[in-house]
Amino acid sequence: MLYIGIDLGTSAVKLLLMDGEGKIQRIVSKEYPIEFPHPGWSQQNPQDWYTQTMEGIRELVAQADRDQVAGISFGGQMHGLVILDENDQVIRPAILWNDGRTSEECDYLNNVIGKEKLSEYTANISFTGFTAPKILWVKNQEPENFKRIAKIMLPKDYLAYRLTGVHCTDYSDASGMLLLDVKNRRWSQEMCDICNIRMEMLPRLYESYECVGTLKEDVAAQLGLSASVRVAAGAGDNAAAAVGTGTVGEGMCNISLGTSGTIFISSHRFGVDKYNALHAFAHADGYYHLMGCMLSAASCNKWWMEDIVGTGDYAGEQAGIDRLGENHVYFLPYLMGERSPHNNPGARGTFIGMTMDTTRADMTQAVLEGVAFALRDSLEVARSLGIHLERTKICGGGAKSPLWKRMIANILNLKVDVIESEEGPALGGAMLAAVACGEFESVEAAARRIVRIVDTVEPEPELAARYDARYQQFKEIYPACKPLFEILK
Ligand code: XUL
Repeated sequence: MLYIGIDLGTSAVKLLLMDGEGKIQRIVSKEYPIEFPHPGWSQQNPQDWYTQTMEGIRELVAQADRDQVAGISFGGQMHGLVILDENDQVIRPAILWNDGRTSEECDYLNNVIGKEKLSEYTANISFTGFTAPKILWVKNQEPENFKRIAKIMLPKDYLAYRLTGVHCTDYSDASGMLLLDVKNRRWSQEMCDICNIRMEMLPRLYESYECVGTLKEDVAAQLGLSASVRVAAGAGDNAAAAVGTGTVGEGMCNISLGTSGTIFISSHRFGVDKYNALHAFAHADGYYHLMGCMLSAASCNKWWMEDIVGTGDYAGEQAGIDRLGENHVYFLPYLMGERSPHNNPGARGTFIGMTMDTTRADMTQAVLEGVAFALRDSLEVARSLGIHLERTKICGGGAKSPLWKRMIANILNLKVDVIESEEGPALGGAMLAAVACGEFESVEAAARRIVRIVDTVEPEPELAARYDARYQQFKEIYPACKPLFEILK
């Protein structure tokens, strides 16, 4: 049988066709625009996601035996607020995961309701990108829109809704709404009250690998697929990526270098860190994970390469970088503010340390290193909780760069296992669909069967020590700049 994995990303939807053995048959990508109506705001039109996904599925299966397509599932950009009225019309553009407009609502949640209460109700505190503060923002700033809300959902759930007519979500993605009691896997009545919403507005909860329904007749006809194709709930993109890299079960780690950068640690046990610096979320394998999320990762490199340097030749630009651990230039990668661990939407990108002999290559190197140092900030929080990691998997666009992988291995001092396919969320989505269709008995069984490590980038002791010294310097920069970020607003 064949399975479709849909990675609903920030800049594009990526669709992947996988067979029952886990072999990838085809990948298609379709872009859509993102609006930044104010500095630090970001929005998308859910209709664009749907149009491009439908177009993408048609292209994906054009040369395949369509009768063999048995299941579809998703990995989706997390936290985005999609609201529909009682006629199922989208009320306003979706407010995305990297949107920083909700500072006041976050202050209210964290300081007036209080972090202890939030953590008790949801296992997490409020970050500007999370969904609950966005609901409060709509209530405060767009009361007319707020009154019209009949259904609340996350980005990938909008696709599932359009494909099946079922208003559903999964526990991993729902964890990032600040509306879910993560430990007990149920909606929090307290949080619904705080946000002034009714629980019926929220989608029904499923495990990621559960079937929520089948394709609507008209959708199936438009795609040339059978209406018996099963749709599984899917997962937030990081949980789906973890499935796609085999980061399931106890104590495994995955780093994703996409628009965002995340470090994801899977566990059989539920756990929260005392300061809620890492997110405590449900995983797509039925268990839990901790995650640090930086808002700009590969997007920093894209911005630097394409918008500033003016080249699309990433490999060519990186070819001249050979003095690792010696760079005197540092870059704070906070182009959209920062989530983990600083929780500061007002933080900004910063270069520091340039001299007259600084080269373009040094600056490029600083951008790549800055992202790796910022990931290490989250890793240090995990280490402070007694979590000991020796190795990590890696995925996302940034994982294509051998130089960046070497920097990650040495700056984080972790063995970096490279997987046959870097298509984390799309592959994870297809694997979840396969589990929902009974091809594998569990997500862990699917991962054991499908995911293959093809290479390991080992930390080099001397270089790791040099980078450790650099990291101690990097750590000093954010606290020193923090008061300036306040002034520069
Ligand atoms: C995770 C997060 C991002 C988005 C990116 O908490 O906000 O990784 O899911 O799509």
